[in-house]
Amino acid sequence: MKGVPEALRNLRGETAYIDDLPEPRDLLHAAVQLSEGARGKILSIDPSRALALDPAVRVVTAHDVPGENQIGSAVPDEPLLPEGEWEYWGQPLVLCLAPTRQLAREAARLVTIVSETLRPVLDPREAAGQDAFVMPSRTQSMGNPGAAFAAAAFTAEGRVESGGQEHLYLETQGAYAERRDGDRVFVISSTQGTTIVQRAIARVLGLPQSGVEVEARRLGGGFGGKEDQATPWACLAALGAWVSGKPVKLYLDRATDMRATGKRHPYSTDFRIAADKDGRITAFEADYYQNSGSSCDLSPAIMSRTLFHAAGAYRIPNLRVTGRMCRTNLPSFTAFRGFGAPQGYFVIEAALDAISNRMGFDPVELRRRNLLSEGDVTHYGMPLKEVRAIEAFDRVLEKTGWKALRADIEAFNASHPLEKRGAAIIPNCFGVSFTKLPMNRGGALVHVHADGSVLVSTGAVEMGQQVSRKIARIAAKSLGVPLELIRVERTSSLTVANTVPTAASTGCDINGAAARVACLEIRDRLLAHAATLRASGPGLLSLEEGRLLEGSADTSMTWKQLVTSADESRVDLSAHGYWSTPGLFYDMKTERGSPFAYHVYGAALVEVRLDCLCGRVKVERATIVHDAGTSIDPVVDLCQVEGAFAQGLGWALLEELRFGADGRPMSDNLSTYKVPDVHFLPARLDIEFLSETGSPASVLNSKAIGEPPLIYGIAGYFALLEAIRAARGDRIESWDLPLVPEKVLGLLAGTGRVLGQKDLQ
Ligand code: MTE
Ligand code: HPA
Ligand code: MOS
Repeated sequence: MKGVPEALRNLRGETAYIDDLPEPRDLLHAAVQLSEGARGKILSIDPSRALALDPAVRVVTAHDVPGENQIGSAVPDEPLLPEGEWEYWGQPLVLCLAPTRQLAREAARLVTIVSETLRPVLDPREAAGQDAFVMPSRTQSMGNPGAAFAAAAFTAEGRVESGGQEHLYLETQGAYAERRDGDRVFVISSTQGTTIVQRAIARVLGLPQSGVEVEARRLGGGFGGKEDQATPWACLAALGAWVSGKPVKLYLDRATDMRATGKRHPYSTDFRIAADKDGRITAFEADYYQNSGSSCDLSPAIMSRTLFHAAGAYRIPNLRVTGRMCRTNLPSFTAFRGFGAPQGYFVIEAALDAISNRMGFDPVELRRRNLLSEGDVTHYGMPLKEVRAIEAFDRVLEKTGWKALRADIEAFNASHPLEKRGAAIIPNCFGVSFTKLPMNRGGALVHVHADGSVLVSTGAVEMGQQVSRKIARIAAKSLGVPLELIRVERTSSLTVANTVPTAASTGCDINGAAARVACLEIRDRLLAHAATLRASGPGLLSLEEGRLLEGSADTSMTWKQLVTSADESRVDLSAHGYWSTPGLFYDMKTERGSPFAYHVYGAALVEVRLDCLCGRVKVERATIVHDAGTSIDPVVDLCQVEGAFAQGLGWALLEELRFGADGRPMSDNLSTYKVPDVHFLPARLDIEFLSETGSPASVLNSKAIGEPPLIYGIAGYFALLEAIRAARGDRIESWDLPLVPEKVLGLLAGTGRVLGQKDLQ
């Protein structure tokens, strides 16, 4: 940590990723052959053409797996390499090893696989019709929606579609593996979770977990794509090293990564919503059809978060939501920043859009009137504390001068026939904790060296989000030393075992808290030692910025002197810290409990300008007001808001995942899949944090930052819809995300559903 921060070294290209590490002389490169066809059956595999390439080539199939050919963690539905049927277009079927990457790829291409094609199912509703689910459906409810709908002054219903999203981490999936001492393996994996990978490799190779060492140095981005889905590649590299006895590196090229790996889940949803005559939402119902893809993976945990966020940031007294996790022949959809919450959010915001149309009610006022406030209880029975939804929303109204802005937009639209502006405001209420309760724990190992330098290892994986910097700050503060003394080590199963993936935005919350526990333990030992030296009470002594204080007076003893003295007196200067988030409970039968440590609040306004002739959109401005608690590193948090918002905006307006009618991946490179760049982002991007509060949320009163701001991108969708409505002069309805230019043109040209007089109640 001393000197240049990780983020700057990243920017300068000085940080090393797995593929940058020096290669051992006997390294074998690995490559896979992917299935061509969305569903099929392997009849035979003939490696002879690949083997003829070079004597060093090796072809590895399911038959070479010494342990269990299975990596599915929740459900055993993911063979590492298929033996009979494959389930999606782009599934790895065989592994080839060769002395060069080119040769390995060539060999993989030359393996002859004779197969039979089977009819795929791609649509989640079709899968549901055939009872093809990865898990049984799940329902949450509260109040009496049936009675509320019967009594409602206004009701609306509709269908909402949201598309998938490719992670496009800069570093593709990959791993490096070595067989050591005959009976152990060492693996460097580009994974968000060392333990997930360790457990899967142990299973595949038939080893105890203690025989599998896994490390993650840093990732060139994960965004959820390397939570569960770094596993197959690490297992394949480990399997290659196991069978060949040589070091093996498997790195995916971009097209292979985009074809073979999972993405954000597409959802198709039916909703109904009801309101009273004063514009209070009285009931909401939704049936989510999640396209889970070919295997279970994290789909149930993701659906869980969709259900928890079904009501968005709104108080809705009567609610029933049902999630169906539909098995299809597409790559297994997986974690992606937001983890099901954005999909749920888009539906409730569409429902508010629909009901405001029916009522002829101002959508901004309707949203504000129904925001959560202090003491409200969620539909899963959790009372909300320190609710800041209205505060954030009002601050956005104030900062943007909303009334004047709206008048300005209306005047502009009235005088510009070929260009239209639109704006929308979306509130945020995001629950923080893993939705799977046992995962809410962190671990750390801290060594203070005799020269005063400190090494901190935790379960957190650095993937660009600067969790290591935040943890360094927590350690410095907890020990009372300058930041320069702290170094945060790579994540390894040797230093911290039984970790959870760095995900759910909790990386710093739980691992930072564990590091703090360990640091405070060492600090207390040091202060006890100092007390014996100075014949003082330990309660009087403290450490601050590397100085020992007695009361408020400097003792002239430095941190380094104290540490050296303690070491000579045989004081243990190492400690392990463990943290389990307190107060969480949940009853799956009644669907009631307190699954989150706290919620994060905020609101955002997005304004767009639409070129009506070509359907092109410019995002003109965004104003985000966000609750970051007491930020551990405001610059890092600001950048996280920017990044999450950019990804949210990309999901809403730009990034279109496409598969052919036969399940063929159509968006597998950057000419067919567009992601936001700096020009796509608004020139006027104003991010403000709500004032700090002293209330304990997480470590040092901070709040998780990684995922919640992605929700603000949804405001871009509704801003654009308003611009389209201005162009048409009606209230056309379409909730089909992403709203890419082709769809915009379609809506401008008149396809889509327009509210008629009979719809107005
Ligand atoms: N930021 C960067 N630069 N790279 C990433 O891969 N992942 C996001 C978010 N921010 C990510 C990121 C996701 S999906 C999560 S869950 C959190 O970071 C995880 O890290 P944290 O828990 O330490 O915030
Ligand atoms: N978020 C991210 N990853 C997860 C979660 C979650 O809530 N639960 C299990 N894995
Ligand atoms: Mo983030 S989707 O929880 O890795």
